[in-house]
Amino acid sequence: MIQPANRTQGVKEYYFSVKLKEIAKLNEGAVKVLNLGIGDPDMSPSEDTWEMLKEACAHPKSHGYQSYVGIPALREGFSKWYKTFFNVDLNPDNEILPLLGSKEGVMITSLAYLNEGDEVLIPNPSYPTYTSVTNLLGGKIVSYPLVEENNYHPDFDALEKRDLSKVKIMWVNYPHMPTGARASKELLEKIVAFGLKHKILIVNDNPYSFILNDTPLSIMSIEGAKDCCIELNSLSKSHNMPGWRVGMICGKAEMLEPVLKVKTNMDSGMFYPVQQAAIKALAEDQSWYDSINKVYKIRRDLVFKLMNLIGCSPREDQGGMFVWAAIPKKYKDGYELSDKILKESKVFITPGGIFGDQGDKYIRISLCSSEAGIEEAIERIKEN
Ligand SMILES: Cc1ncc(COP(=O)(O)O)c(C=O)c1O
Repeated sequence: MIQPANRTQGVKEYYFSVKLKEIAKLNEGAVKVLNLGIGDPDMSPSEDTWEMLKEACAHPKSHGYQSYVGIPALREGFSKWYKTFFNVDLNPDNEILPLLGSKEGVMITSLAYLNEGDEVLIPNPSYPTYTSVTNLLGGKIVSYPLVEENNYHPDFDALEKRDLSKVKIMWVNYPHMPTGARASKELLEKIVAFGLKHKILIVNDNPYSFILNDTPLSIMSIEGAKDCCIELNSLSKSHNMPGWRVGMICGKAEMLEPVLKVKTNMDSGMFYPVQQAAIKALAEDQSWYDSINKVYKIRRDLVFKLMNLIGCSPREDQGGMFVWAAIPKKYKDGYELSDKILKESKVFITPGGIFGDQGDKYIRISLCSSEAGIEEAIERIKEN
């Protein structure tokens, strides 16, 4: 047997990859599992986006390799998007780099900035990719707890008491997945001040800014941010385009240079029609976001009902694409409650522990199922 690289031992198969296999097995039975676990937007991108994709396929250049930095019009589209919705000025020539989804940004930013043994501040709970990528690259994880009592904001007093001299990167993500906590301008100011003071690269992962969040905020709008921050964004959630793989990274030109160096050695640009379609999507006005949020609001009310039915009381004030709630005390952890509901009602919800041990006593329900799907889940759970 040829031995895989040692670095693969620091990561496990993604939880959802394992769980989906289990669900596929259960689906061989008569009753199909209702999956309320995964944040995979089920609504369509806008009509204009679709039309542009089709039209651009006929372009003679559509099948060729594309520029590593995207076509200029796409970078301009991102730049206008940031100006319109975040009031941030970004030079489309050198402060924006289109990505194949923001997940790519987690890897290439880490490859560009991390040396083996460097420490990385990672929120607990958080998107598991920050941890797995850090592990793959031999970085040292320094997890910082986000707790409900502190509105899931970092505890800066506790962080200041640590030795921060080896910390290279701090991951930040507001609206926060999985807890739905939002950032205020004051919080972002504190984060930027922290990064500047300790010479830490702050990476704000911002894919949920338009979902159930009235005031989208970019860390790049904070004074001083360009000296220590970069930000990831994505059309996966804001424009219902998760499978299209369109994201971006922005920041000061010299801070993006090492990221670009990595990227040019890893992929060869984004499919031309997808770039053209993304430009259309980025040009949507506020009514686009209102239309998707109208649907998410209705679903959220239903998910609150479902949560109450299983003894959970979610906080009202949550942004993003999920509802997060503490489990009733009678369960050991979210895994126990999730397994029970899957077994008894054939409904899948996500145990909070997959996002870090601070999430052990929580569960997360996605808003990416239709009203009918959530209503059916409620009925199934009522019957058990
Ligand atoms: C916090 C967070 N960041 C990044 C991503 C990756 O999104 P994408 O690569 O589709 O832009 C996700 C996806 O679920 C996420 O929840």
